[in-house]
Amino acid sequence: MCGIVGYVGTKDCCDVLVNALSKLEYRGYDSAGIAVFENGEIETVKTQGKLDDLRNKLDTVGKPQGHIGIGHTRWATHGEPSDVNSHPHSGARVTIVHNGIIENYIELKEYLTNKGRTFISETDTEVVAQLLDYKYNGDPIKTIDDCMADLKGSFALGIMFKDFPDRIFAVRRESPLIVGVAEGECFIASDVPAILKYTRDYYLLEHNEIATLTADGTSFVNEYLEPITKELKTADWDMEAAEKGGYPHFMIKEINEQPTAIKTTITPRIKNGLPCLEECGITTEKLKKFKSVTIVACGTAMHAGMVGKYVIEDLARIPVNVDIASEFRYRNPIVSEGDLVIIISQSGETADSLAALRLAKQKGATTLAIVNAKGSSIAREADMLIYTLAGPEIAVASTKAYITQLSVMYLFAFELALAKETVSSAECKRLVSALLKIPDAVQYVIDNCEEKCKFIATKLINADSLLYIGRGLDYALSMEGSLKLKEVSYIHSESYAAGELKHGTISLIDDGMPVIAVATQTDIIPKTISNIVEVKSRGAKVILVCTDACARELKEGIADYVVEIPHSDELLMPITAVVPLQILAYYTAVDRGNNPDMPKNLAKSVTVE
Ligand code: F6R
Repeated sequence: MCGIVGYVGTKDCCDVLVNALSKLEYRGYDSAGIAVFENGEIETVKTQGKLDDLRNKLDTVGKPQGHIGIGHTRWATHGEPSDVNSHPHSGARVTIVHNGIIENYIELKEYLTNKGRTFISETDTEVVAQLLDYKYNGDPIKTIDDCMADLKGSFALGIMFKDFPDRIFAVRRESPLIVGVAEGECFIASDVPAILKYTRDYYLLEHNEIATLTADGTSFVNEYLEPITKELKTADWDMEAAEKGGYPHFMIKEINEQPTAIKTTITPRIKNGLPCLEECGITTEKLKKFKSVTIVACGTAMHAGMVGKYVIEDLARIPVNVDIASEFRYRNPIVSEGDLVIIISQSGETADSLAALRLAKQKGATTLAIVNAKGSSIAREADMLIYTLAGPEIAVASTKAYITQLSVMYLFAFELALAKETVSSAECKRLVSALLKIPDAVQYVIDNCEEKCKFIATKLINADSLLYIGRGLDYALSMEGSLKLKEVSYIHSESYAAGELKHGTISLIDDGMPVIAVATQTDIIPKTISNIVEVKSRGAKVILVCTDACARELKEGIADYVVEIPHSDELLMPITAVVPLQILAYYTAVDRGNNPDMPKNLAKSVTVE
């Protein structure tokens, strides 16, 4: 959802900005631009297209020479991707880059137009640039503060004032922003990977704080314009974690990182063979009291919640609702004291999930965040917090974050079931021990199924539409398989509860339509197989993901292609079974000539509604 960067130091600013933006391209990639102080003037170069298009333009028009500047990579919200709508945007004395959405930009635009201001772009950002310029009174901090009182919505801004060529300013409300520091230089960025090449030390800018960055250092004021001292943080990710490391794409790299990501996430949360989430603020006393659980999230994170529902209900025997955050927040949901609301989010900044968290708290529910990005808004605002320790996830399509979200859902369900005394300590130990074996099973699938999935992908590339089917946990999982495929391959697909097909959807099946069936739950496999037979007899091409045990029992000709995965405890099968679905989506996208790391129309961190 747009990446912003800024630099003050002694290096070639243009190079630093473009390099930093290359680490944020996952946030938006329909246009890019930079602005640099050159001999006291602000020089702006921007273009529609990817960062490579900006590089080419800089080569053609010449790089602005200077050591202080700001940059932007865009995911269009207001106005189509075009040169003129690209950031930075300027007023006469101010140039800015922006991530977020200004909700009252139309009123402000009208107000400024009546004051004689003219606009050249369709963006909400240009309105902010013009407002800053209109209100400018010689004091940048007071001007920024004055404007903030007028702005509604979310924003992280990098700001240059023409009169102050030795510094840049930054401010945020809702949208994330960090301020990186190193010897003689400082940075702003929407996310940590952008600055890792230069420093691992950074400050997290809080809502309504304003930062001033000069070569001598950074200073901060709070919303009352009082100087404040902030805690310096150190990123525990290194550069390598944010690079492709020899893989052609981040998506396949991150799929390969999953065994380690699961291990890293679960191992520190297991003590004496049992789950232990006390460090996350989760105690038996608290868990005992919850009478229901509601899981709220978006997209892939919501799918992790769907698996969580099956597992928690099965083990802890309390009702679990799963809700899409954008629905939950506008539905006057029934949650109150005594209910637990779990918010799952990789970025921890998804606008709808954050709003859902705040609503749940307002209604008196206890909130638990399951988040990957350290220090993100959702992580900071929830009552209890479990970090998924997946490391930076750069590909837009979530893989390793999802698998660690699943792992945490299992640990939480085990702990809740223990607290509710619906499973014995011995049974819980057995489940934990099975969970500890899952990273190896995932590694086995990566090592042994990739070639087969790559081959099957060649059979999917010309499909117009696909169905994913399964029952129970396999249905919950097929939702994620279907989303993964459509977001990177651009082939339409839907997931269906296998038993529901005959109530309408089966009429879609015709000759050659691919149907991907997931069957890992022994007690319902015969039912799923009947559904497979139904679609096969209507012409579907069936790809079956099932356990090796199930494959041995299969009658000849039931499926066209079978991907066998190792059998583990049935409850845990989704963690292993998602891997071939991810690999299948990846290769289908690549074979169709798509860049799976940057699917069209998508951005990694959805900080707007
Ligand atoms: C799909 C995907 C999205 C995200 C969703 C929520 O691969 O990544 O569906 O899961 O936008 O994002 P987070 O988890 O950051 O709240």
